[in-house]
Amino acid sequence: MVRIVLVRGDITAEAVDAVVNAANSSLLGGGGVDGAIHREGGPEILAACRDLRRSHYGKGLPTGHAVATTAGRLPARHVIHTVGPVWSASEDRSGLLVSCYRESLRVADELGARTVAFPAVSTGVYGWPLDDGARIAVGTVRAAETEVEEVRFVLFDATAYAAFEAAASGDG
Ligand code: AR6
Repeated sequence: MVRIVLVRGDITAEAVDAVVNAANSSLLGGGGVDGAIHREGGPEILAACRDLRRSHYGKGLPTGHAVATTAGRLPARHVIHTVGPVWSASEDRSGLLVSCYRESLRVADELGARTVAFPAVSTGVYGWPLDDGARIAVGTVRAAETEVEEVRFVLFDATAYAAFEAAASGDG
């Protein structure tokens, strides 16, 4: 079973095998985690993303999918880009959020990664309620069949940390 560790801080500082980016389907950058990863990791990541767009994802990376690039200057070795769903009150999109975590772990396995850091995918710009996002994240990672040994959820603020703490302890 995967060991789950909760960390309060900035995901770009994590010295893990792979950090997961809460990207958008263009793979060409944005705000939040995505902005921070490209800023701190440098232009090599964007160059790799452009190559992926040319070679495999002419229409962009679909929601719920994941793909890896170099981590550039980050302490991590790889970045796994995944595209979370935008929250909708009228449609249940939770299967797509589950898929982000599963697919990211599948890509991590392909890379041989043993330690992976995740942000709270979709809970920022994409508007997913934090408690529900935390429950889905923790539940999906716990249920995953993977060679990854440690998943670090890196939470930016106290509210996000508390939501993941509740989800991890079963009160979520
Ligand atoms: N480290 C850890 N967590 C962070 C960091 C950081 N450096 N920065 C923000 N967070 P978001 P999304 C938290 O918006 O909702 C981008 O523009 C943040 O507080 O980064 O999946 C992309 O290009 C929140 O809890 O991702 C897409 O267009 C969580 O990380 C879109 O935003 C995710 O927030 C994706 O939106």
